[in-house]
Formats: sequence, structure tokens, C-alpha cells
Amino acid sequence: MAKIVFEGQSREVPDGTRVFETCEDLGMPFGCTEGLCGTCRCSVVSGMENLSPLNAKEQDMDMDEGERLACQCTIKSGTVEFTIG
Ligand code: FES
Repeated sequence: MAKIVFEGQSREVPDGTRVFETCEDLGMPFGCTEGLCGTCRCSVVSGMENLSPLNAKEQDMDMDEGERLACQCTIKSGTVEFTIG
């Protein structure tokens, strides 16, 4: 099992799960869910190594180190903590 943490709340999910549904459940804002609008742009507080590599849409967004689009990444295993801003 893997664990997703956002704003002090957490959920356990199976390894290999897209983080979108869980982060939305925990209150993270989403828009397009297609990697286009940037609404779900977030910072990874810890556990970046537990996420899938940046995909092409995330690379196109020209994000800073430690940032991800929550609608585009998958948690491989372990714990990942996200924050907004
Ligand atoms: S919700 Fe639009 S980029 Fe993720």
C-alpha cells in the first residue's frame, strides 16, 4: 500500500494508483484533469521519488523542481506529501 498526505489528512491507496482521485477527496483543487490548466499544480513536500516520472504535459508546464501536476502523476509505493503553493 502507498499513502498520500495533503493538508494534514492522509489516505492509503494501492501501489500504482493515480493520485488525482485521492487528492481531490482530500480537498485539492482540480480543473481540467488533463494536464492543461495548471489548477492542480502542487508542491511535493516529501516522497518525490515515490511518484512516476514527469510526463510530457508536466514537462510542458515548465514547473519548478519539487512541483507536480496532481492530475498527471501516479504513486508507485511509499508515502508522498503534497501541499499547494
Ligand atoms: S487539473 Fe488541469 S492541469 Fe491538473
